[in-house]
Amino acid sequence: MGARNTFQVLVFLPFILLFGAMSTTSLEVGYYKCKQTCPQAEDIVKGVVFKHVSKEPGLGAGLIRMFFHDCFVRGCDASVLLNKSELNPNPEKLAVPNNPSLRGFEVIDDAKSAVEQVCPGVVSCADIIAFAARDAAFILGQISYEIPSGRLDGRVSNGDEVLKALPAPFHNLTVVKALFAAQGLSTDDVVALSGAHSIGRSHCSSFTNRLYPTIDTTMDEGFGYFLRGQCPQNAMVDGVVPQDFITPNKLDKQYYQNVADLKGLFFSDWSLLTSSETASLLNDFRTTPGLFEAKFAESMVNMGNIAGLGQGEIRRICSAVNY
Ligand code: HEM
Ligand SMILES: *[C@@H]1O[C@H](CO)[C@@H](O)[C@H](O)[C@H]1NC(C)=O
Ligand SMILES: *[C@@H]1O[C@H](CO)[C@@H](O)[C@H](O)[C@H]1NC(C)=O
Repeated sequence: MGARNTFQVLVFLPFILLFGAMSTTSLEVGYYKCKQTCPQAEDIVKGVVFKHVSKEPGLGAGLIRMFFHDCFVRGCDASVLLNKSELNPNPEKLAVPNNPSLRGFEVIDDAKSAVEQVCPGVVSCADIIAFAARDAAFILGQISYEIPSGRLDGRVSNGDEVLKALPAPFHNLTVVKALFAAQGLSTDDVVALSGAHSIGRSHCSSFTNRLYPTIDTTMDEGFGYFLRGQCPQNAMVDGVVPQDFITPNKLDKQYYQNVADLKGLFFSDWSLLTSSETASLLNDFRTTPGLFEAKFAESMVNMGNIAGLGQGEIRRICSAVNY
């Protein structure tokens, strides 16, 4: 390195470090406690989530999926919550992977109003999603972890970005892995987070390409015929089935058994069997008690670290930017 280059590095290093620290990991566990801005925030959210999810477990599945769909598009910045507006005429919320299947919005709105009553204007909607997903994982899977917070809410929501960033049920492992890698997530994260398909539901339209005109050879044939019964070809409405027929409301390792039995709903689920790395991890999760739960917690924290694109705000209402 020449003298001039050395000089430039030394002069700019403090700036690089400063801006690096500002844009990357400013999240911390217990952010609203440490900052003394809203020590009760996480407890308030937890209470609201418990109220809703104990009545309707499917909402817990919705919240965990909402966290995923939020974080993969522009980082975890609550962009998924924004309604259509002049500023955002084509919001993420209306994009095909979210509309009409994404659910749990009323839980977030309820939690936000409860938090605003106690400490107005300090807790972001993005953090509320992260807390709610964590609480749902506890209610449905007794999975317990701390999630760093201090996220800001974005002002931009663009539906075109959703299809580009999110994996689709017909994607193969190569594509799924690449989309996770683009978010800084590993192959282990792919396998662990896919275990969320042990709860909630799917619309028939997400997998009927595997049933008609012939049952895909990547699916157990008997299961295929059974799903045909649940999802008739010319039905007037798009039906729904549980992701996991064995323990539908339990966030547990049953998903990995289902996939091993060729009884996952999606081609993307089956595709975990197509590399030795993912197949062997799948087998570990399937057979080792506690392993899935531990790794799922870790991967949810990793997913929650996907950074937003910079400037943000604390929204007053989660479905609209501040004006
Ligand atoms: C690996 C790639 C993934 C693909 C291709 C995928 C695809 C899908 C699809 C198509 C549905 C059904 C939507 C419907 O038709 O109603 C679904 C549901 C769901 N997904 Fe995924 N997903 C993936 C990863 C994840 C991850 C990482 C999570 C969270 C950690 C997740 C959580 C869920 C949950 C909880 C449901 C049920 C939602 C409900 O009941 O409302 N998925 N997913
Ligand atoms: C996965 O899908 C992509 C895009 O459709 C395709 O280009 C690639 O060849 C596929 N890879 C495998 C291993 O099937
Ligand atoms: C956003 O849309 C939902 C449902 O479409 C509605 O209930 C809610 O009030 C809207 N939010 C705002 C701020 O207009």
